[in-house]
Amino acid sequence: MCGIVAYVGDRDCTPILVGGLKRLEYRGYDSSGLAVRTQDGGIEVVRSVGKLQRLEAALAAHPLFGTDGIGHTRWATHGRPNETNAHPHAAGSVVLVHNGIVENHVALRAELEAEGVRFASETDTEVLAHLIAKAVDGGAPNLETAVRRAITRVQGSYALAVMSTKERGKIVVAKNDSPLILAHNEGEAFAASDIPAILPHVPEVLILEDGEVATLERAGITITDANGERVVRQPHRVSWSLVESGKGGFKHYMLKEIHEQPRALEHTIRGRISSDGGDVVLPESGLTPETAKEIRRVCFIACGSSSNAALTGRYWMEQLGGVRASVEVGSEVRYRDAIFGPEDLVVAISQSGETADTLAALRTAREAGARVLAIVNVRDSAIARASDGVLYTHAGPEVAVASTKCFTAQLAALLLLAVHVGRTRGSLSHAEGRRILEALKRVPGQVRTILANARGVRGIAKKHHQSKSMLVLGRGPSYPVALETALKVKEISYIHAEGYAAGEMKHGPIALVDETMPVVVLCPQDRHHDKTLSNMQEVMARGAKIIVVCTKDDAELTAMAAVRARLAASPDGSEPPPSSRPHPGNVDVIEIPDARSEVLPLLTVVPMQLLSYNLALLQGRDVDQPRNLAKTVTVE
Ligand code: G6P
Repeated sequence: MCGIVAYVGDRDCTPILVGGLKRLEYRGYDSSGLAVRTQDGGIEVVRSVGKLQRLEAALAAHPLFGTDGIGHTRWATHGRPNETNAHPHAAGSVVLVHNGIVENHVALRAELEAEGVRFASETDTEVLAHLIAKAVDGGAPNLETAVRRAITRVQGSYALAVMSTKERGKIVVAKNDSPLILAHNEGEAFAASDIPAILPHVPEVLILEDGEVATLERAGITITDANGERVVRQPHRVSWSLVESGKGGFKHYMLKEIHEQPRALEHTIRGRISSDGGDVVLPESGLTPETAKEIRRVCFIACGSSSNAALTGRYWMEQLGGVRASVEVGSEVRYRDAIFGPEDLVVAISQSGETADTLAALRTAREAGARVLAIVNVRDSAIARASDGVLYTHAGPEVAVASTKCFTAQLAALLLLAVHVGRTRGSLSHAEGRRILEALKRVPGQVRTILANARGVRGIAKKHHQSKSMLVLGRGPSYPVALETALKVKEISYIHAEGYAAGEMKHGPIALVDETMPVVVLCPQDRHHDKTLSNMQEVMARGAKIIVVCTKDDAELTAMAAVRARLAASPDGSEPPPSSRPHPGNVDVIEIPDARSEVLPLLTVVPMQLLSYNLALLQGRDVDQPRNLAKTVTVE
């Protein structure tokens, strides 16, 4: 979603702003722009549609020199992604950029138009520019007061960075429900939507809270609350290094992040298994033995890939934790009049920690008395701060829009949590806990093995990248992996894909199956294996092209694939009719290492990430920044 960078200092701000916007590209955007204060005190704006290279070209044609400025990448919500709607927006002496949605913009626009204001764009943001300009003209003593007055009129979410031709060397920022971080160095101040934007310049950041307004000047940053009272805020040290947020020799961030999974998983697990190996230690979760015993229900709340992780967590929480568990997507539960109470543990899962729907839903649950535990990747993010306890996944920065390493790190955290709850409540024995945790400790190495042997996946992708549609089937904990696979395939390759519980396939989707349809079957060795194999036979009998993910040396599957290959080699008509035998064609087999059933989702998903990646690559898609998608969804 939209990205903001602001700078006040002594350096030429254009490269700082453009560099910052580049490091926010992962958020997703379709236009961009810069406003820079020039020598004569005026503010010049350059905007462009499309990627940042187009903005750079526009800046080469029309250079902006100055020492304070604001930059923006826009992900269109109100109004098409064209130059007129791109930020910054100007009104009178005011120029601003905005991330979020002004929900009452229609009423405010009508009110301003009735007063004679002429709007230049279709955006909700321009309303804010006019409201602030009006407050300036109405006698506000300074820009920060004008901003504070204007935002009292606004409903919705915003992070703002505002400049005025009347006040040199000053940028005012404000936020509500959209992220904004601040930083100060000797003689310069920064603001941005996320840490990577300003990481090369500062070792520490300050987090602006909802309702606060901050003034950025060379001399420092002043934070005030809604009443204008001064707020003292301690800075946080930034631990992610720049090296970690580069591509490190990989063609795409997504591929790099897929390959970072072994290390990310080690970081998620590290220090969380007791010295005797049978228990999980999670002091930061805020769950004491007493509170864990009081839980009557665990409700997972998440969006996107995180909700697929949540579905897997539900299986583990019921099986190992011995507690009733449910999964809700943030956008639904927040408006469902859902019933929460003190006996509920709500687990909010989010890689960014900023997803608006997840945040709103957890706040509703917390207000109703539920205890909220966050599983997030980004330290001190809004969801982390709004929860009673936090399990950080420690996967490092994830830049590609499609989540990979954060997803598997979430799975590892969820398995740890389920074992912890099971051990604390007595539903899981020490010996069984130790066996599961031993299996989890082996996962990073097994993921390395999968990645090292994954060359065949590209060949499989080559056979199917022109398919119009794809089905992905799985049972038990492989079902959420099927959903995640289908999500990954559609979000980055734009091939239509549906994940299904294999047992549901007969209730509809099988009608779609013919010789053109690739069907991915997740069939590792677990208690669902034989039933999934039967479902695979059913789609094979209807001619589907099968890609099966199975445990290494699965004798039954190997035999089945061999029969099929033989039939494909000699379709001489002497075989029984199609209804009673596998249809000629080929079965592609992807093997994963043998592992305990509890950890299988952490393994089966890895080749599926690679399959999606290769399908997207062969389709020539923008793998890291797929069309219309954003990494951090800060609007509902
Ligand atoms: C966006 C991203 C997805 C992510 C989802 C939820 O749609 O593109 O990759 O799964 O948001 O985000 P969260 O940060 O809450 O996990």
